[in-house]
Amino acid sequence: MPSTIVRFGVSLERELLEKLDNYAAKNHYTNRSQAIRQLINNNVVATKWKNDSLVAGSITIVYDHHRRELSTKLTTVQHDYHDIILSSQHIHLEKSLCMEIIAAKGKASVLNELASRIIAIKGIHHGKLTMTKAD
Ligand code: NI
Repeated sequence: MPSTIVRFGVSLERELLEKLDNYAAKNHYTNRSQAIRQLINNNVVATKWKNDSLVAGSITIVYDHHRRELSTKLTTVQHDYHDIILSSQHIHLEKSLCMEIIAAKGKASVLNELASRIIAIKGIHHGKLTMTKAD
């Protein structure tokens, strides 16, 4: 069901308003309402992570596939978290460089824990977790 739109007035310092307009322009928002809406949503997402609500996320890692013990560890960790991992994709980036994207859905704290365990595996060159709200 669509939410009711409520209009309200906002008083801002001129400098802050300029910052809002810059933010809107940079993100290609068509108006200030859209920019404010997005800022509020981002903040709510950040709070939800802290509150340990349901999130969807992806962990992207880059590593050298010649390290066989790394692949074994990577598989073991992913099996430990099979209940939150939705899928994983393996991309052969270069002759010996691999990229893996692991999609997961669950509590933010568990996704953080999974990402930390994966990124901590010896031989992982880069690793990054991104999350967004999933409810
Ligand atoms: Ni590969």
